[in-house]
Amino acid sequence: MRISVIGLGYVGLVTSAGFAEWGHDVVGVEASPEKLHALKRGRVPFHEPGLAEMVKANLDAGRLTFVAPGPHAIHNADLVVTAVGTHDGNGGWQTDTMLRCLRDVVPHMEDEAALVVRSTLPPEFINRLPRMVDDLREAAGKPTVPVLTNPEFTREGRAVRDFMEPERIVFGVASDPTRRGTALVSHAYHLAQGPVLVMSAVDAAFAKLGSNLFLATKISFANELAALCEAHGADITQVVAAMALDSRIGGKFLGAGVGFGGSCLPHQVTMTAHAGIAEGVPTPLISAVDAINHDQRKRFVDRMEVLLGGSVAGRRVALLGLTFKPDTDDLRDAPALSIARILHERGADVVAYDPMASARLRAAAMVEGLQTVASLEEAFEGADAVGLVTEWSEFAEVDWADAAVRMNNALIVDGRNFLDPSVLSGAGFQYVGFGRRPVGEAADPARVSLPIGGGETIPVAIPVSGGTTISVG
Ligand code: UGA
Repeated sequence: MRISVIGLGYVGLVTSAGFAEWGHDVVGVEASPEKLHALKRGRVPFHEPGLAEMVKANLDAGRLTFVAPGPHAIHNADLVVTAVGTHDGNGGWQTDTMLRCLRDVVPHMEDEAALVVRSTLPPEFINRLPRMVDDLREAAGKPTVPVLTNPEFTREGRAVRDFMEPERIVFGVASDPTRRGTALVSHAYHLAQGPVLVMSAVDAAFAKLGSNLFLATKISFANELAALCEAHGADITQVVAAMALDSRIGGKFLGAGVGFGGSCLPHQVTMTAHAGIAEGVPTPLISAVDAINHDQRKRFVDRMEVLLGGSVAGRRVALLGLTFKPDTDDLRDAPALSIARILHERGADVVAYDPMASARLRAAAMVEGLQTVASLEEAFEGADAVGLVTEWSEFAEVDWADAAVRMNNALIVDGRNFLDPSVLSGAGFQYVGFGRRPVGEAADPARVSLPIGGGETIPVAIPVSGGTTISVG
């Protein structure tokens, strides 16, 4: 089938390449001339593992083409998928791009085609969609077309896998009296494995919103629990390891630390709390999730300040990681940027390293006083403290003994509880995480003494997870 995808950001480009990979004839439509120029040459303008390869392969196979907007872009398309941006860049919604897109596209759609909205939109906008489409078609003197939504559940950094092997596919029906639209969009996904759920468009909007709000809630819950753990000398990583084995809970998204960032979770949490107030539907839980999350960034700096003797002024702080999570170059609402700003405001000299050169460049332009460097060694040189903000896998491979020698003061605040405290301690570091017991403060529960008679004991190492054997020695 022929599919036109409007808007080639993270969502639209992954969707275009994924549909082409499944053998459909896909036209990707992009308004930015620079982006279009790069894409036509097989260059993906952002970092997403596996995407550039998939784009290139499908361009070469002739199943994927990129064009500028215009009626030609949707000529003969069975499905027109919109994936234009809906964030205003300041934590709010903007629906102007979507409205413009509808005005440009809907009047020119083939009479037999269906419209699929993949952009995330506020529920009230979704409710108004069928009427808007009907009006645009009527003004063009054409019959109306089915309108569906298809929310995306892809995570940056693994968006290709999430699209190709979805855990669920949701179709929201805004207007499809003959079920032709549902049949078309089902056909587009017929090669995908995973359960397909067909529901009303507003249900689909809340299915997406509910998932993100719940994930955000888990993270803020873990951060609150981590604070309680700290107060009572417990270790959140041990606590979560046990909780995770309860199949009703699971262990994912219970990582304590600097909290969630990115373009989705913070935006949807904040907008839901605001909408709740405006619509008279109180959402105290979501407001608390938001407040806890914002606090974590400040708590990270407070923690460093205390460890540096009460002030970061004049101290050199090395931040590891700038992007909002690993395997992306996305800096939108990245905790590292807020942390760098707070540190700078409190008088610290902030230097940061991130494996993504493009992220380093953009971050330095976005945060006053932030210096970025191209290697970990440069970041460690003369630093009074290290702050790990993004858990890039290369940070697990650091030679910490060497880092300690380069630093002025071997102190690390691990904002993702990513590193092994005993390794850091062994390398001479003072290690502090979130909700983690300081190294050596309590007996290691994994090593006990076993009485063997005659008043003698032998040391026993008990595996902390999995397995049933105990090693003695
Ligand atoms: C999120 C959802 O996970 C996707 O399912 C959804 O499709 C997407 O938003 C969207 O709405 O488009 P994404 O923003 O790519 O995906 O990032 P996540 O993997 O959800 O991570 C969000 C933030 O939470 C990151 O800053 C991450 O570091 C943080 N996080 C995650 C924690 O602080 N603790 C955890 O335990 C897990």
